[in-house]
Formats: sequence, structure tokens, C-alpha cells
Amino acid sequence: MSSSIQTRQLELYDSSRKSPDNFKNTTSTFSDNLSLPIHRWFRYSAGFSATWAYQLLMSQRNHQPERVLDPFAGSGTTILEAERCGCESIGIEAHPFVARVTRAKLMWRSEVSVFQRFAERILDYASRNLIAPENPPKLMTRCFPPESLTRLYSIRRAWVNLADCSAASELTWLAMMSIIRECSPVGTAQWQYVLPNKAKAKSLDPFKAFSAKVMMFAKDMLHRQAEPHGPAPTFELDDARLCNSVPDGWATFVITSPPYANNYDYADATRLEMTFAGEVESWGDLQETVRTYLVRSCSQHVAPIASETEELIRNPILRPIVKELSQVCRELEVQRDHHGGRKTYHTMIAAYFLDMATVWTALRRASAPGSLACFVIGDSAPYGIYVPVDQWLGNLAVAAGFKSFHFEKTRDRNVKWKNRKHRVPLKEGRLWVQG
Ligand SMILES: C[S@@+](CC[C@H](N)C(=O)[O-])C[C@H]1O[C@@H](n2cnc3c(N)ncnc32)[C@H](O)[C@@H]1O
Repeated sequence: MSSSIQTRQLELYDSSRKSPDNFKNTTSTFSDNLSLPIHRWFRYSAGFSATWAYQLLMSQRNHQPERVLDPFAGSGTTILEAERCGCESIGIEAHPFVARVTRAKLMWRSEVSVFQRFAERILDYASRNLIAPENPPKLMTRCFPPESLTRLYSIRRAWVNLADCSAASELTWLAMMSIIRECSPVGTAQWQYVLPNKAKAKSLDPFKAFSAKVMMFAKDMLHRQAEPHGPAPTFELDDARLCNSVPDGWATFVITSPPYANNYDYADATRLEMTFAGEVESWGDLQETVRTYLVRSCSQHVAPIASETEELIRNPILRPIVKELSQVCRELEVQRDHHGGRKTYHTMIAAYFLDMATVWTALRRASAPGSLACFVIGDSAPYGIYVPVDQWLGNLAVAAGFKSFHFEKTRDRNVKWKNRKHRVPLKEGRLWVQG
């Protein structure tokens, strides 16, 4: 390994040389982003800290300008910060709704007054044509009182009538989508999906929330436009397992956070918005509309292929971890019969590592020699059976042609035992992979 590469990685993960507040613990949370221009436009709880991404990129200033790749771009945190730091960047996201959110956020460069006029027309149209929706989906009636529902659907109808694929129209679409949860008086926190039986302390009037959101967008756009910034990121609806949008050897720095193998269902997380948009009618639609495009990290996704688990494990790409993986999957299958839900965790874990091994192969092709990758990851323990995610992902990266890996823990998880399904200590951190 060349000494310059080694120094570069050490500088990055030696947190003792950085301010502890800035470089510890905030990596994996979106909470900081709620006060940051552009990032705060859509609350994406799966996102990581923009401040951390910015500091990481700025700490690279002494090296050659980076070409930054985020193959699991989510709400665009990495690429928006790469743009601020003057780096070229490519982001890939496979969830169609999340990708549309990110694409709209990247339109912050467009003309602010045009956006504001478009949004005013939407609101004017909606308030002059207040019509209750006919047969709204059950999820919507469970989450909103009739008056809010009428206002929300009137905004949507106005948008559908006036939309013209312009930046103003996409930004307005995002403003409309980002008020939905704020306007519901029931439990709609994103991480917990939707809980219609729980009450929320405060909910907003849709028209007022929409106006406030438009004002916030306009303020942030002006702010960002006045800041120095680099080239606009390239952002594609694509699959990290293929990285089709990335030229061979392009990336010098991969900064990302893949789905964790923890049964979080990214499709369900946006069900409320997609139902409002008319993109799905029921929970069942999520499989074809969303899950099918994603890395398999939840049991719902893999339930139909449970009988193929052995075949997944036997895929040659999993050879470096096959022994331990088979053992864990066998234990999970046994545990399944002792639990009421009979979750297909054994299939989920096999499919997850197969997908992630494929991601490493795609990244090897898309990364330059001597590149660096930083994966924000967490381990998991379905049914209380520990899955050493950092170790296995690292081994798969090396098998795909990367040189070495190192895991840097940033926080413990599941250490407060109360109300937990199992007592296995877990951790979150950064997997550094050198190419
Ligand atoms: C942990 S989130 C990343 C969040 C991101 N760092 C941010 O700050 O918004 C993982 C993302 O990977 C996306 N994803 C899952 N499978 C994918 C695939 N095969 N290709 C690209 N993106 C995928 C999910 O939809 C999700 O948005």
C-alpha cells in the first residue's frame, strides 16, 4: 500500500485529531440536517449528517480534488455537500419516490421568483377550488380529519392541473409532499412508519404549512445561491448493484450509507406520501412499486423467495463468508419456528449479503485505483442472533478487489436493555475501505 494512501485514510479515521463533537456520534443521524438549508426540505430519517459529510470532504483539501460517489444517495446529503465543497459528484438512488425528492432538492439553483409565483398559483387555485376527495384511500382517512384532507387534495389537484415538468413545478411538488406528515394529527413519524391510533401534540393547517414551506425553500435557495459552490452533481435513478451511471474508474472517494440488515422497510417509510400521490393504493403495492428495486434488507421483501435461501448462500460471490453466513442463516431458520411472526430473516440476511457483494463488485469497477470508501453502517441481530456486518462487508469488499478495510466504531446501540426484543449489544460506525 502506498504511504500517501495510508496517510490519507489515517487522517480521516483518526478522530483524536479532530474536534470530538464534530467527528463523533453525529455521523448516522439526520437530526442536524433539520436546521440546514436545503437538507431540511424533506425529513428523511434514514439520512446521515450533512455537517459530518462536509467536514469529511473539507478535511481532504490537501489532497487532489475528489470525485465523490454516493451509491445509496437517499435524500442527497453527500452530493449536496460535495457541491458546497467544490467536488464533482455522482449520486445513485433506487427508491423512485426518494429519488424524486432528491432531484427536486438539487433544483435549488433555479430562479426563486419563478418558483414562488408558481407556488402562489397552486395555492390560489386550491383555495378557489376546495373540493373534498372522492373515495380517498383508507390510510388517508385514518391519518387526516376531513377538512385537512380536502385542503391537501385541493393542493394536489391544483398541482396536477398546473404541473409542467419545470424546476418550479418539481420544487412545488416537493413542498406539497413535505407538509403531509406535519398536517396529520396522528402518529406519522417517519421512522415508525404510520401509527393512526397515536395522537400527535401539534398538527398544521395544509394551506399555512404549504405557504411556510414555500417561504423556507425560497429563503434557502437564495442563501445557497449566494454561497460559493462547485459543479452541479449528477444524480440518477439507478441501482448501486450496477452503478450504470458511473464511468469506469471514476470515483476517488465513496461516501455512503447502505440500508442496514435490520428489517427497516424503505418502501413502507414513504407509503403515506406515495398513497397521497396516488402512486400506491395499498401496502401490497409497495413490493412491485418500490422494494423490487432495492437492496434486500427487510423480511417483507424476501418472503416470496424464502425457499431459495440455500441457493442464495451458494452464490460464488459469497464464498469469502459462506461458512459463517450458512451457520447464521441456519440458526435464523430454526429460530423462525419459535416466533409467532415466522419472519424470513434467514433469507433476508443471505439476500442482503449477496446484494452487498454485488455492490462491491460494481464499486470496484467504478472506483479509481487508490480510492477510498467510507460506509456508515450498523450491525444487527435478528431474533437475537448476531450478524457481524462490518466484518462480512469488509471481507466482501476485499474479495471484490479492494485492498483492505478497517472499522471505526462511533456509537453503541441496544445497550439499554429495557423494552428490547433481544439483549445483543450492537454498534454503528464507519467501514473504511481502501482501493
Ligand atoms: C441509509 S439510506 C441513505 C441515506 C443518505 N445517506 C441520506 O443522507 O439521505 C440508504 C438508501 O439506499 C437506498 N437504496 C436501497 N437499495 C438501493 C439500490 N439497490 N441502489 C441504490 N439505492 C438503494 C434506499 O432507498 C435509501 O434511500
